[in-house]
Amino acid sequence: MSERPWRDRYLVFGAPSFGPEERAAVLECLDSGWVGSGPRVAEFEERFRRYVDAPAAVAVSSCTAALHLALLALDLEPGSEVVTSPMTFAATATAIVHAGHVPVFADCDLATGCLDPAALERAIGPRTRAVVPVHFAGRPCDMAAIGRIAAERGLHVVEDCAHAIEAAVDGRHCGTFGELGCFSFYVTKNVTSVEGGMLVARSRETAARLKTLALHGLSADAWRRYGDEGFVHYQVEQPGFKYNMTDLAAAIALVQLGKVEAHWQRRRALWDFYLRELAELPLELPAPFAPGTRHALHLFTCRVDPARTARTRDEVVQALHGLRIGSGVHYTALHLHPWYRKRFGHEPGDFPSAESIGARTFSIPLSPAVSDADAADVVRALRIALA
Ligand SMILES: Cc1ncc(COP(=O)(O)O)c(C=O)c1O
Repeated sequence: MSERPWRDRYLVFGAPSFGPEERAAVLECLDSGWVGSGPRVAEFEERFRRYVDAPAAVAVSSCTAALHLALLALDLEPGSEVVTSPMTFAATATAIVHAGHVPVFADCDLATGCLDPAALERAIGPRTRAVVPVHFAGRPCDMAAIGRIAAERGLHVVEDCAHAIEAAVDGRHCGTFGELGCFSFYVTKNVTSVEGGMLVARSRETAARLKTLALHGLSADAWRRYGDEGFVHYQVEQPGFKYNMTDLAAAIALVQLGKVEAHWQRRRALWDFYLRELAELPLELPAPFAPGTRHALHLFTCRVDPARTARTRDEVVQALHGLRIGSGVHYTALHLHPWYRKRFGHEPGDFPSAESIGARTFSIPLSPAVSDADAADVVRALRIALA
């Protein structure tokens, strides 16, 4: 009898884990007649606010929208410099640009991929007004050091928590160290609403201002205008954006938030399995967790070690694809993308740690939808790809 052929189902990287509860919540929302921004969004904001223990939270359409609004809310002089890490998704720096400011990169730590506080210090100039640390892969940045530098140099702190829903330092959630924290509920994220984001703020006043900005700058949101509390005229208070979350999205997010700990536990089991099973391969695996921190376990990143294999990262990723295993690259260092090279004159060598990671890294499936058999296939595929 011939051996069972290789898996026939493609293992999609970052596939969400939905069950009958999400399905029921969507149908209930559709049947309720209210699918736009309304009571489910308000409930999700309150539940998420309590989850991260923040004074206030505002749900929006994406983390990109959250970052944009957060940077606008700082009221910086146009053309201010905002420091962030080149080891991030495009949205972190794009939001700085769209807010009218200049993204200035400071290299990440080679071991962790998080913003290096010493590099931050070196990147600060006379026009620097803010810093956007990215909790890379779900690992909290060194917020004590970053907070100290920000306080000494008079910088605002906006945290990019797209990867860091469950992340905490000494029991304090990421997103509550800075003035504003920005979360993502994109499909691949640890809690998903398919598309969605959340801003957490230190005060209800800031949150109210952000909420107005997120919905055309109107004084009363749609729920209050068309809800069952009677007709309310709206006033345009400023030119705002269309960044509100819908109840349909919040319906999914509420169920997902209820599963956040169970899903984290499942990813923890996968994480430990990968650490154990991949230890002998010519890969650098994620750094050990820092004491006193909780890692959100968003990405399990592997780096090809050129001292131990001739295979390149792209060859490995291609081989995995051929074996029906999806993977991701997080990230090619942002300063090497064409627009950043052209606009700011960046070139290879500017940020060596981000470049070293960017050239060698790939992320393997870590979603709670990954079964034990799937995870075993990932390991087998990597052994083949690196043979
Ligand atoms: C680090 C980081 N920041 C921001 C974003 C943007 O999130 P969203 O897709 O919700 O706009 C992402 C999305 O992948 C991200 O990974």
